[in-house]
Amino acid sequence: MDRLSIDLTRCMAGGTIAWGLTAELMDGLRPRLDSALAAVHAAAGTGMLEWTELPQQDPEPFVRYAATNHGRYDALVVIGIGGSALGTTALATALLPFYWNELSSTRRRHAPRLYVLDNVDPDETAGLLDRLDMERTLVNVISKSGTTGESMSGYLVIRQRLEAIVGSRAAKEHLVFTTDPAGGTLRQIGDEMGVPMFDLASGVGGRFSVLSSVGLLPAVLTGMDVPGLLAGARDMAEWVKESEGWDNPACAFAGVQYLSDVEFDRRISVMMPYSAHLRDMADWYRQLWAESLGKTVDRQGRTVNVGPTPVKGLGVTDQHSQLQLYAEGPDDKIITFLGVGEFAQTIEIPAPGAEADALSYLGGHTLAELLWAEQKSTAWALAQKGHPSLTITMPKVDARSVGALIYMLEMATAVAGELYDINAFDQPGVELSKKATYALMGRAGYEQLAREIK
Ligand code: PA5
Repeated sequence: MDRLSIDLTRCMAGGTIAWGLTAELMDGLRPRLDSALAAVHAAAGTGMLEWTELPQQDPEPFVRYAATNHGRYDALVVIGIGGSALGTTALATALLPFYWNELSSTRRRHAPRLYVLDNVDPDETAGLLDRLDMERTLVNVISKSGTTGESMSGYLVIRQRLEAIVGSRAAKEHLVFTTDPAGGTLRQIGDEMGVPMFDLASGVGGRFSVLSSVGLLPAVLTGMDVPGLLAGARDMAEWVKESEGWDNPACAFAGVQYLSDVEFDRRISVMMPYSAHLRDMADWYRQLWAESLGKTVDRQGRTVNVGPTPVKGLGVTDQHSQLQLYAEGPDDKIITFLGVGEFAQTIEIPAPGAEADALSYLGGHTLAELLWAEQKSTAWALAQKGHPSLTITMPKVDARSVGALIYMLEMATAVAGELYDINAFDQPGVELSKKATYALMGRAGYEQLAREIK
């Protein structure tokens, strides 16, 4: 297998799955899938679909910046939130060796350790500041709007620490910004201070930005295979362009999720990778799906309150945490198993001694065989209880497959947006709480709101 595959067998009605996809339902959705895909293709590269062009980009500017700074920094701190952070975390977990930050500089090939600060928790922030050698730290502040309060607070705190240690003149040597080319406070600060800056195109929303400067700069700085990542995304872009209906991976994924929701009331979409490298990919997917598809109104302005609820899981860990609920709780979920065809490492389980005969069934198998067996048996066992699932299998976790998966899920989100007939690229629902925070923090112009909240 050299490319990602999607297996819908366990979503199909029949046998133990009384309530599942039928040929009739799939044929019924087909024209809508085709027009959804056509609409996405027609808008590709324009408006908020500029992210569709990202696989074609030349990563040279990031490579040049990283080469100039190679070996200079022991730590890279990414300050961002939501779409400005989750992609980097997902890429790092997928593509860097495990326990990266604990490896020696030699084993990291003199690339920096990576810390992603995507919260404003004072204890976590203090812990990070305590850990950093500021003289050898580079801080990548990422904010498309350049105004997000959480990220700007993180920046102000870390800048103060930087200035205290390296001096205000040298602080800019430790900063690099990623932001909208047109404006925003971060750009203004960068211009004034002379901080190096990378643009994030206006038509690339945060949660669709992992293959842009947002994800690629940290990826190049830490030595990930960025050409492979982009090549994988291009392979997928080709596949999504060439294929139609249920043969199109993005349509197949979006179609199953949509039908599960609107036909069967299975409103929860669980993403359950069976590879620890893909753990944070489920977190990234959770944001992509939730923020894109959870909307009050459709494009006609009608109140629809749509949106499946994405949940992240991890095999096998969550078999001992969530599975009981999935198996015996309400039939309100569609589960996506995200598996891999091959692991980089082989670890054989040693045969136990005679004193532990009960464990002899494990001996001689590999850990990968156990993981695969658990993935298959979980899908089977859920089906026995009438619960459908689909399985995405990646050939292995490498940059190419990860690039393909990312692009497929982004396209699936855009297609699902068409099926729900909503704008998948805005997030009006988060505005009110942002304004309320401004009010409580005393921002000018929000006094009335502050009084209402208090
Ligand atoms: O996907 C999105 O648009 C959001 O999650 C944003 O990424 C998040 O709110 C951070 O915004 P910004 O990058 O403007 O700081």
